[in-house]
Amino acid sequence: MGVKTQADLKLDSASAFEGLVDELSLALSRLGTHFAPGPAGRVTEGGVEVGRVVSWQPDKLIALEWHPANWQPDAMAKVELRFEPAAEGTRITLELENMEKLVGESGSELLGWFTSQVAAPLLRAAGPCGLGDWITDRRARRPSGPQARQTYRDPLFHRPNFKVILKTLALKPDDYLLEVGSGGGAFLEEALKSGCKAAAIDHSPDMVRLAREVNRDAILAGRLEIREGNAGSLPFRDGTFTCAVMTGVFGFISEPLKALSEIARVLAPKGRLALFAGSKELRGTPAAPEPMASRLRFYEDAELEQMARQAGFTGSRVERPDFGPYAREVGVPLEALGLFGTRYGQLLLARK
Ligand SMILES: C[S@@+](CC[C@H](N)C(=O)[O-])C[C@H]1O[C@@H](n2cnc3c(N)ncnc32)[C@H](O)[C@@H]1O
Repeated sequence: MGVKTQADLKLDSASAFEGLVDELSLALSRLGTHFAPGPAGRVTEGGVEVGRVVSWQPDKLIALEWHPANWQPDAMAKVELRFEPAAEGTRITLELENMEKLVGESGSELLGWFTSQVAAPLLRAAGPCGLGDWITDRRARRPSGPQARQTYRDPLFHRPNFKVILKTLALKPDDYLLEVGSGGGAFLEEALKSGCKAAAIDHSPDMVRLAREVNRDAILAGRLEIREGNAGSLPFRDGTFTCAVMTGVFGFISEPLKALSEIARVLAPKGRLALFAGSKELRGTPAAPEPMASRLRFYEDAELEQMARQAGFTGSRVERPDFGPYAREVGVPLEALGLFGTRYGQLLLARK
């Protein structure tokens, strides 16, 4: 039995090929499968070879010999990814052949496999829940892809927040800063101008890669390390940092108290926290449109203050600074300045 899916893209074949290889490697690694692309490429799961490239023709074809079942080592399937000219760009076809020997040759078993493992996930991915989650991840919650890389390399609309945070923290060369959810590393780039040292984490491999590229010199100079990691479990020792920042991240975090407690743990005594979050007034504006808005958590000022106290901070308070002058300073276009007054941004400040 063969399964075939196709996508028509407004991309030339070189961009489609390159983009697919990059995205497939990232997407598979998120699922625990490793794809080493290239003419001698391999796909492995837990060190076991699942696929081996048998034909690698850039911009045209990737063919793999596929071993779908390590309990049946002789069983072999065939995977092909073809890139062909289409009306407005390139048609990608993914074809998988020979699954019947593994799934069971009776029609009903094949039908069950095809329906539950191929058709249902595809339909869910194309419905509002799956699509909304994907768009939210892709653009903001775990950004990836060329568009996100371009946005986060120079996040103009976040720069006013960066300015306010930096003014508040007044970093010095003897500071050791932690950023949680560092995106493309633009805040770190600004912060490091103070002469401080820094470390950061983000759970998006694509953002970690970009942030490392943007801050290459600081990394080479030993002033910065950026790791892939989760806010709920920071890979740093207790009492390491003099200050910590989180900006544009908190609303996406599923266990906010745990994330704040982790920051408190890795801060040294008297270490300071500056956390920027969009307030609930932002919901549905161009800064927090659907489908992101309903997947973001917005907090009252008092909730943030209380959570910080619970996490082990003292003197927690939420300020509503005027972001307007900073927005003008960084060049936010006139028509967007309305989103940068005192209503839309919460700045949670606290000390350990
Ligand atoms: C909207 S972006 C903001 C990026 C950056 N702070 C800025 O202002 O430009 C949110 C970032 O937080 C990261 N993030 C979200 N939840 C996270 C978590 N639980 N652990 C680590 N990073 C997380 C995302 O991958 C993304 O890079």
